[in-house]
Amino acid sequence: MKRLLTVLVSLLVCTPEAESATTVPDGKAVFERNCSVCHSVNPPPKSAPPIVPIASAYHRQFASKAAGVSHMAAFMKTPSKASSKVDPEAITRFGLMPPMALSDAELKAVAAWVWDQYNPNMGKGAESGAGAGQGGSNCQ
Ligand code: HEC
Repeated sequence: MKRLLTVLVSLLVCTPEAESATTVPDGKAVFERNCSVCHSVNPPPKSAPPIVPIASAYHRQFASKAAGVSHMAAFMKTPSKASSKVDPEAITRFGLMPPMALSDAELKAVAAWVWDQYNPNMGKGAESGAGAGQGGSNCQ
């Protein structure tokens, strides 16, 4: 009986741990640690364009989340004017973003989080609603 209990307990203890070993990085936490020095989420901007209008620009130019996220992750590794999807004025105003020394998994997670900050109420227009957006979807 005691033996059976030990087996049961070890099963209960081990199962969740095995699962958590494969968890993906939390995109929002990556953002707060590595990006929020330069990027605010909503206007006004810090030293870079705010995330919500960036998300709008990506939603406007990519049909699927997978395509948008993969382009964004590649951009953050090696930013270039040619591959930028935001208004070229942003680069004139803020300069080009420096490359991020993050793992591919972290880049993907934070890019997916940025993609999800798109606020449909603000529309996909380049400038429309700047300064208004509050409360984008924070789920995920
Ligand atoms: C040192 C300041 C700085 C940091 C840190 C920074 N960025 Fe940027 N980022 C910029 C600037 C400036 C731009 C605007 C010019 C450009 O697009 O390169 C920008 C542009 C972007 C864009 C638009 C890319 C495009 O298509 O032009 C995305 C997406 C982005 N940042 C995400 C992030 C994420 C996510 C992080 C954290 C992992 C991050 N940034 C960290 C300064 C920064």
